[in-house]
Amino acid sequence: MIETMDISITKTTASKLPSVDMENPQFGKVYSDHMFLADYEDGEWKDLRIVPYGDLSISPANTTLHYASTIFEGLKANKTENGDVLVFRPDANAKRLQLSAERMCMPAVPEELFMNAMTELIRLDKDWVPSAPGTSLYIRPFQIAMDPYIGIRPSDKYQFLIITGPVGAYYAEPVKVKIETKYTRAAAGGTGFAKTGGNYAAALKPAVDAQKEGFNQLIWTDGKTHEFVEESGTMNLMFIINDTLVTAPAGDTILHGITRGSIIQLAKDKGMKVEERPVRVTEVIDAIKDGSMQEAFGAGTAATVAQIKLIHHEGVDYELPPVSDWKYSAEFLNTLNGIKTGQLPDPHNWIYKI
Ligand code: COI
Repeated sequence: MIETMDISITKTTASKLPSVDMENPQFGKVYSDHMFLADYEDGEWKDLRIVPYGDLSISPANTTLHYASTIFEGLKANKTENGDVLVFRPDANAKRLQLSAERMCMPAVPEELFMNAMTELIRLDKDWVPSAPGTSLYIRPFQIAMDPYIGIRPSDKYQFLIITGPVGAYYAEPVKVKIETKYTRAAAGGTGFAKTGGNYAAALKPAVDAQKEGFNQLIWTDGKTHEFVEESGTMNLMFIINDTLVTAPAGDTILHGITRGSIIQLAKDKGMKVEERPVRVTEVIDAIKDGSMQEAFGAGTAATVAQIKLIHHEGVDYELPPVSDWKYSAEFLNTLNGIKTGQLPDPHNWIYKI
């Protein structure tokens, strides 16, 4: 229960905005002037506040630091030509945060609290929403356990926070990926579908090893047999095979991507055949070899649509057809960008105007 939806606002006295390159913001490096916080104590969310962006003061025994009791979301806002600020599908992010909370034994942040907090924060920092092509305001809501407790149990106290910052492309150009068949990102029954920090921490070593070999990312395979492709850690995976959109089903090991769901909807809207089904590694490789793999791409909030130009598997590089010839992924990206910036109609009511 929320005690009150009143959000207290303390404004910064010195905006950092004049020092920021809003034409070319780098992903994840710059944060807007303010942040939102709410505390969960005695079974309710309280002390809703917006304050100048700054460091947190946390007990060294904070349970999140030790036991990774943390979940997060990622969404984007864009500016229209006439200066309106539009957010893409925030209600879906609010619901997914609740899904992650349930798995991680955390109290749910009510959708109304999520939406009000985000709205007030972006209203205050609306000058931080960039308008150059390919840029957005990235919004990072997250929830952490706050008990100063060494021991394994859910916390009594939590905090819900939102920070934002202007961003450009996460991947500046088409990516090279390696199919990972040794390490596992998520096992059945685990936390793979939840947006929780541990999934990303556990993926670091294999990803860094792959980067040393010259790849941008991994294609994760199922933890049991390593025979089926899952997701890419920073994005869901999609393939165009014989004009059909093929993607792995978002079960309990794969993030339920909002960009993924949006692209599936756009594909159906244009009458494309869509198959959400297990995808074998061998099918991917065979389809590249026989030419039926027309396109492969990642889909995610940060990555948007990241075209995959090369897939590496068991010592062999498989090159995809020239990305410049691809029509499907380019069209999905243009349609999503058009909807997000108010230049195209929004038939599914995905846009929330601040
Ligand atoms: C997002 O797509 O928003 C994520 O959280 C993934 C991360 C690579 C930034």
